[in-house]
Amino acid sequence: MIDRHIGGKFLLTMGRSDDSLSHNYVFYLIKILKVTVKQKKSQKPTFIDMFCGCGGITAGLQDAGFELLFGIDHDIPSLKTYEHNFGAGKGASIDLFNKNYLKEIEKRVHQTGRSLDVVVAGPPCQGFSLTGPRNFDDPRNQLYLSVFGVVKKFKPKAFLIENVKGMRALYGGAVVEEIVSRFKKLGYNVSPPRVLTAADYGVPQIRERLFIVGVRDDIGEFNFPMPTHNSLTYVSCEDAIGDLPSREGEFGIEVDEYQGSSQSDYQEYIRNDSKKLFNHVATKHTELVKSVIKLVPEGKNHKSLPPGVGESRKFNEAWTRYHSKKPSKTIDTGHRNHFHYKWHRVPTVRENARLQSFKDTFEFIGTRTQQNKQVGNAVPPLLAYCLGKQIKKSIKN
Ligand SMILES: C[S@@+](CC[C@H](N)C(=O)[O-])C[C@H]1O[C@@H](n2cnc3c(N)ncnc32)[C@H](O)[C@@H]1O
Repeated sequence: MIDRHIGGKFLLTMGRSDDSLSHNYVFYLIKILKVTVKQKKSQKPTFIDMFCGCGGITAGLQDAGFELLFGIDHDIPSLKTYEHNFGAGKGASIDLFNKNYLKEIEKRVHQTGRSLDVVVAGPPCQGFSLTGPRNFDDPRNQLYLSVFGVVKKFKPKAFLIENVKGMRALYGGAVVEEIVSRFKKLGYNVSPPRVLTAADYGVPQIRERLFIVGVRDDIGEFNFPMPTHNSLTYVSCEDAIGDLPSREGEFGIEVDEYQGSSQSDYQEYIRNDSKKLFNHVATKHTELVKSVIKLVPEGKNHKSLPPGVGESRKFNEAWTRYHSKKPSKTIDTGHRNHFHYKWHRVPTVRENARLQSFKDTFEFIGTRTQQNKQVGNAVPPLLAYCLGKQIKKSIKN
């Protein structure tokens, strides 16, 4: 007697050849195969986000159709924002300097019951050191090495690394060369790294970042996304934040109501049907600071101030007022050097978030300082979305 268990059905044979039985067998086998193929097709490719911060890359990848397994960071306020927006349990508090990082990541991936398709990472490069090609293994480079460690362990279909533009020229380009060569040795097709400008992809901000993307040799190769905008069609500051309350004569509250409807396509998109206006609270400036800001015309900086005014800050970006008809400068982590194109104050967290292309439904948690840091550190979700779409194409089969 042969006892076969197929998809929950038991077929019993009595040791004789039986045509209808083998038909049944084939029928159930096909059915199971069909269900499995269907399930596989409907499953989105998965990813983890190393150095996730509040989740700029995560937001973009989710929009591009990826399924988040979890994000990793060691900054608790960032993880609070992350979990608030992506779900409880989605933020893993792991110090990637710690030797046990790989074990912890393996455990968490295992708990999801899913395989890992894509690894994305935005490691900080402060303190990065390369005194010779082999010195890449210097413990100070551990944060970068942790990304190699994870890719080596899981062999995902693709990986993406984001970094500041300056990384490209570090040690005369030797660092990026070494990174590319190491991933190639791990079996990846690494496209020549590129600096992308966020404004070219519909983000109302001039922000340049370096991206290194690789696809596993046996799967294919990655092509960087074509720009969707140019300097004539860039989304401007006014397009991005012109509908938000001025906060003149009031500071506003963390959870507020909109006043009026959206006035541009970008505002329509970015509101994302949010029922509330989050994080739109103005900073209190001294009268002296306000009087200096008032003297700076749109799109100008400290160079337009009369002699003797605003002398305390004279570097390049000091006392910069955004231009209403242009994208903003690079959003930083809250240095207070940039001002609203019309109002005499620094932008609110919500205004900065919009200039970074975070949708209004994305709420930032923590103190104002923590919120500004999270926004300024992020990869613009819209840029991550464009990269995600291309990664998806590369790994489709
Ligand atoms: C540039 S931010 C990443 C932003 C993120 N990719 C995004 O799009 O929102 C770098 C992140 O690395 C995290 N980080 C720095 N050192 C770390 C460490 N040793 N372990 C884990 N995370 C770390 C920081 O807390 C910060 O959130």
